[in-house]
Amino acid sequence: MILKVARLGHPVLRKVAAPIPPDQITSPEIQQFIDDMIETMYEYDGAGLAAPQVHVSRQIVIMEVKGHPRYPNASIPLTVYINPEITPLTEEMVEDWEGCLSVPGLRGRVPRYNKIRLQAYDRQGNRLDIVVEGFHARVIQHECDHVQGKVYLDRMRSMESLTFIEEFMKYGRHE
Ligand code: NI
Repeated sequence: MILKVARLGHPVLRKVAAPIPPDQITSPEIQQFIDDMIETMYEYDGAGLAAPQVHVSRQIVIMEVKGHPRYPNASIPLTVYINPEITPLTEEMVEDWEGCLSVPGLRGRVPRYNKIRLQAYDRQGNRLDIVVEGFHARVIQHECDHVQGKVYLDRMRSMESLTFIEEFMKYGRHE
């Protein structure tokens, strides 16, 4: 089932989402909800999606990037992270363009940690503890911000790069 996407201004996007008790991860309700999130991400061509973006204040994020026109060189397999916790492993921040289904039509340059440790559960309820770098780490930080009530605009150093997508295509990437 394709879910309705919350847009900036909806209070659900500004709440800290509730964790999922680990013994409930494999329940039919949570599994169906994850499938609905995946269907919704595909429908709207997102690189990722967090549960609060579909009006559900729970700590679930998903992502997938392959052959994406906006990220031609990037590849992230379909991944589900539940109750994610991020620890930066470097002070190095890299700035790059981001957009968000909850902030439609805009792009902006956002600094993110280039290397992070991610602790989470997968959709089978297995504990994950991994190190992630680069673009994949960027997408994780973007999606995990959503379960903390944050959006990428909050992370921008300045609003000067904020651009409508049409102008972004027309005037280039301003890098
Ligand atoms: Ni987003």
